[in-house]
Amino acid sequence: MRAMSDDHQGADFSLKPTLTGELVTLRPFRLEQDAPVIREWLTDPEVLRFTDGDPGTPPPWDEEAERTMRQWYGTRADQPDRLDLAVVDRATGRCVGEAVLNNWQPANRSCGFRILLTAAGRDRGLGTEALRLIVGYGFEQLGLHRISLTVYGHNPRARRSYEKAGFVLEGTRRQALRFGEEWVDDHDMSILAPEWSQHRGHPESPRR
Ligand SMILES: CC(C)(COP(=O)(O)OP(=O)(O)OC[C@H]1O[C@@H](n2cnc3c(N)ncnc32)[C@H](O)[C@@H]1OP(=O)(O)O)[C@@H](O)C(=O)NCCC(=O)NCCS
Repeated sequence: MRAMSDDHQGADFSLKPTLTGELVTLRPFRLEQDAPVIREWLTDPEVLRFTDGDPGTPPPWDEEAERTMRQWYGTRADQPDRLDLAVVDRATGRCVGEAVLNNWQPANRSCGFRILLTAAGRDRGLGTEALRLIVGYGFEQLGLHRISLTVYGHNPRARRSYEKAGFVLEGTRRQALRFGEEWVDDHDMSILAPEWSQHRGHPESPRR
């Protein structure tokens, strides 16, 4: 692995790596190959519920949605200040979601994080492994100091997955989301570089 200096000059988000784990591979998007599953997650009520806090039925897919999707996912490899990677299920070789480092603040060596999986990828440990891979890359290769995220209170699976990888609860914006007829909390979580060095994404068994 490339040695990092203590300043923030080492972060190179223009490089788009392939990261390989036991269950998943993270790689740059391949638009034509991945488009069907991307359409699937952009219209998946469960994904919209947990990522956008949207309780409604997704609108039908139309030309505008297709154009927007192609413009976005066709340009992820060109972004110099964020890292968007497809999550590929190694058991099938198929893309099942995405993992993203965004909102890079070079002066603070910090980033935001987001992840989503389609139904085919969920509940099999793929998400936790994917987030360990990209978060590890963020600390060990990009030299980040802090990675943060938000997770809604009605998404305990995601919160558990983040905790398993070492994210720590920082605070809660109480009832920040109006979700249909309900109020939902929004939790802030983060992980810091010294914590990652201690457990490398396995806080419950740090000696591995
Ligand atoms: C969140 C997400 C990335 C997690 O990935 P995943 O592969 O499904 O999760 P994993 O299998 O790695 O781990 C889930 C953990 O949560 C636990 N879990 C599942 N449902 C749970 C629930 N209702 N309450 C508490 N824990 C739950 C699982 O048991 C597992 O923990 P364990 O290994 O200790 O048993 C994925 O489910 C997803 O993309 N969901 C839809 C979109 C989304 O929520 N994105 C995140 C927005 S913040």
